[in-house]
Amino acid sequence: KKLTIGLIPADGIGKEVIPGARQVLEALPNIGVDSPSFNFINLDAGFEYFQKNGTALSEKTLEIMKNECDGALFGAVSSPSHKVAGYSSPIVAMRKHLDLYANVRPVVSVASEKDFSQKHVDILIIRENTECLYVKQERQTTDESTGLKVAWAERKISEYASRRCGKMAFEMALGRDKFRQNIPLEKRFWKGKPKVTIVHKSNVLSITDGLWRETVRSVKENDHKYDSVDMEEQLVDSMVYRLFREPHYFDVVVAPNMYGDIISDGAAALVGSLGVVPSANVGDKFVMGEPVHGSAPDIAGQNKANPIAAIRSAGLLLEHMGFHQQALHIYNAVDEVLRRGEYLTPDLGGRATTQQVVDAVIKLIQ
Ligand code: NAI
Ligand code: MG
Repeated sequence: KKLTIGLIPADGIGKEVIPGARQVLEALPNIGVDSPSFNFINLDAGFEYFQKNGTALSEKTLEIMKNECDGALFGAVSSPSHKVAGYSSPIVAMRKHLDLYANVRPVVSVASEKDFSQKHVDILIIRENTECLYVKQERQTTDESTGLKVAWAERKISEYASRRCGKMAFEMALGRDKFRQNIPLEKRFWKGKPKVTIVHKSNVLSITDGLWRETVRSVKENDHKYDSVDMEEQLVDSMVYRLFREPHYFDVVVAPNMYGDIISDGAAALVGSLGVVPSANVGDKFVMGEPVHGSAPDIAGQNKANPIAAIRSAGLLLEHMGFHQQALHIYNAVDEVLRRGEYLTPDLGGRATTQQVVDAVIKLIQ
C-alpha cells in the first residue's frame, strides 16, 4: 500500500529532526505482505512562516492534509510567550480542524549501559487534546478595591470530549496488551493486567474535574468489553509524586489537557531526555506524529538535536495506521542504538550529530 504522509517540519530543530524521520521511513524494508511504501508532501506552517506570510498555517496546508494525506508528521513550532498580533499556534489549529482529539505519549525505559534512564518504565499517557484551560478564554479586569490587574481563564470540560478520550484510553489499554504479546515476557516492563489511571483534582475542582472523572469512569462501567482492564484514579499532585517515586506503577494514564501536558514532559525526564519521547495526535480519521519537545532554539541549527523522538513519532504514526510490524521494527532499531550507546546526541551525554544517529538507526533497520 502506498501511504501519503504530510511532512510539516515547522520551526527550529523541527527542520532537522523531521527529515531524519523521513529517511528512516524510506529505509524500511518490506516486512510481511502489507508493507507500505511512502509518498511525502512537504507542507508549510510555523512561526517563521507566519513572520513571512502573516499566517502560521495556510489554508492550503490544511486542505492537502485533509484531502491528500493518510497521515502526517509534525516537527515543532516556536510559540512566542508574549502575545503577537495575528498569531495563533498552528498545532492547536490542526488538532482542531482534523479533530485530533487525543494526544498519545508513550514513555518507555531505555535498556542502556549508560545510566540516563530509570528502569522498567512503560507508561502511555493519553492527554485530552481539545479543551481544558487551552480553550484560551482569557480576560483581564481591574480589582476595584486595589486598582490592580486581575487575569482570568475559563476552563472547559465536556462530557463529549471526556468520553471519547476515556474510550481511547481503554481501547489503547487493550491494544497495548495485545501488542505486548509480541514481546517476550522477560523483556516486557509491564507484566500485569492492563490498567488505566484517571488523573484529576476533583476534590478541589468538583464541577470540571468531577465531570471528567465520572465520565471517564462510566466508559468502563458501561461496557463489558473493558472488564479485563483495571481502573483506578489519582489526584494529579500525588500522581506526580508517585510518577517520580515509582514510575513502574503506571500503565495507561489519562488526563485532561493541561495536566497531561505537564505530566508528560515530566515523565520524559524519567527516560533521559525530551529528545526521545514521541507522541501522536489521534482522531477517528487521521493521525499526526509529533515529538513531545519544542523547537529548542538553544540548540537549533547546530546539527545536534536528538532525532529519536521524531523517529519514534514516525513509528507511532505507523502503529496507529495499523502497521504494527513496521512500527516495532523502528522501535527495536532505536532501542538498539540507545542500548549500544555508540551514537548518542549531547542531551544523552554523547557527541553524535543528528545525522549520525539517523544513520545508525537506518543501518539497523535495513
Ligand atoms: P523545548 O522542548 O524546545 O526545549 C527544552 C529543552 O530541551 C531545551 O534545553 C532543548 O535544547 C532541549 N531539547 C528539546 N528537544 C531536544 C532534542 N530533540 N534534542 C536535544 N535536546 C532537546 O522547550 P522550550 O525551550 O520550553 O520551548 C522552545 C520553543 O518551543 C517555544 O517557542 C515553545 O513555545 C515551543 N514549543 C513547541 C511545542 C510544539 O511544537 N508542540 C512544544 C513545546 C514547546
Ligand atoms: Mg508540552
